[in-house]
Amino acid sequence: MMERQDCDALVLFGATGDLCYRKIIPALYQLVRRGLLTVPVVGVARQGWKLEQLAGRVRESLAAFVPAADPAVVARLTGLLRYVDGDYNDLATFKVLRQALGTAQRPLHYLAIPPSMFPVVVAHLANSGAGRGARVVVEKPFGRDLASARELNAALHAHFPESAIFRIDHYLGKEAVQNILYFRFANSFLEPIWNRNFVASVQITMAETLGVAGRGKFYDEAGAIRDVIQNHLLQIMALLTLEPPLNREGESLRDEKVKLLKAVRPASVSQLVRGQFRGYRAEAGVAPDSQVETYAALALQIDSWRWSGVPFYLRAGKSLPVTATEVVVELKAPPVNVFGDLGPDEPNYLRFRVGPDVAIALGASVKKPGPVMTGREIELFMAQQPGDDMDAYEVLISSAMIGDTAHFARQDEVEAAWAIVDPVLGLKPPVIEYAPASWGPPEAEKLLTGRCGWHNPGAKAPDWLRSCRRVIPPG
Ligand code: BG6
Repeated sequence: MMERQDCDALVLFGATGDLCYRKIIPALYQLVRRGLLTVPVVGVARQGWKLEQLAGRVRESLAAFVPAADPAVVARLTGLLRYVDGDYNDLATFKVLRQALGTAQRPLHYLAIPPSMFPVVVAHLANSGAGRGARVVVEKPFGRDLASARELNAALHAHFPESAIFRIDHYLGKEAVQNILYFRFANSFLEPIWNRNFVASVQITMAETLGVAGRGKFYDEAGAIRDVIQNHLLQIMALLTLEPPLNREGESLRDEKVKLLKAVRPASVSQLVRGQFRGYRAEAGVAPDSQVETYAALALQIDSWRWSGVPFYLRAGKSLPVTATEVVVELKAPPVNVFGDLGPDEPNYLRFRVGPDVAIALGASVKKPGPVMTGREIELFMAQQPGDDMDAYEVLISSAMIGDTAHFARQDEVEAAWAIVDPVLGLKPPVIEYAPASWGPPEAEKLLTGRCGWHNPGAKAPDWLRSCRRVIPPG
């Protein structure tokens, strides 16, 4: 184990922006409440503000996002605040920042600003001394393709070593996503079946009821594949499929993720369906003839000994009937159907509910009480909870503060994910319109080759809709 070195100040670039307002400030409140944040918090922005205005903004954010915030905790948080006003393009701003950091030797700089600003900010951090001994947190989107991700990495590496760079994918901070890894490698019953011999297919669905909710301009430059498949869904797929890490060090886990992502076979056009919800083109900031997808379904193959031949189906969409992220690992049917057409209708499966509530369930068949040897499907819930105890941002900020890299994306990991996604972006099958609040274009059903169609998550964990075809062996 490397010796733990904690940050002794937190600097928020973009302190007056939306991400701070909605996510970061509420997370800081919780960290202060738990006693996990006691160091100075320095807000940086170009608003012509003073410290009182930043404190006011913090109180506004808490009033909006933390119901019944404890006034004593709020006072503790505002007591940690400092504010630096200035232009990010001006080195002088960073010299003032270095002074505001006082005796701090290991600041954490959180860049909640557009990626186009990263190069100049990291250069000024380095040249002003404010970057000495520091760590840097950067937000997604991390590039818009492999080439731009590489450029961004080069700009960061010009001034910071990889070990000091923390790339956020907030899904990696989710309890249920971390639990996929824990559940896989803290139990022995799973390992013998976790491979091509027993797994028939894997589905990962990320459904959202919201449309693009005021982010039309951003979204129309991204689309579902860049926005969530390149990061959140591929990360979930990697955690489900990677080989056992050597130990719990962040680098061991990231080594295995990279290996897995590199084994994903390039997709062809028959493996992708893109959709766009009706009404998307009328959203503010969206081009009237936009060809950007608000829905994507993708079939992938992993060329490894463990997974060769197992289809992985990834699907994400806006304006779908529910908001839920769910994984279904479908197992193969028993080799012989002892009970003939009275036998099980549906194959066994494992279901990981990643959000908004959290669950792990095992689907099995049991005998229906009575004289006939016929069955019914049951679901055994192995874990179930209403939601994450800690918000992903709390988890990630506290991990970065203590220097734990495990739940952040490493350079080669981000690039390996883009290497999968770049060819997919190039396929460009036409976008198919779908009705808002539907499950997307019906054409997506054709991607699935096995016995089951798409399984649609319900609004709450116990509810969902399976769609397997009954298979009765001939004779
Ligand atoms: C973000 C995407 O990364 O994740 C958004 O940019 C999406 O489009 C969001 O809505 C979903 O996050 P969560 O945690 O609500 O599932």
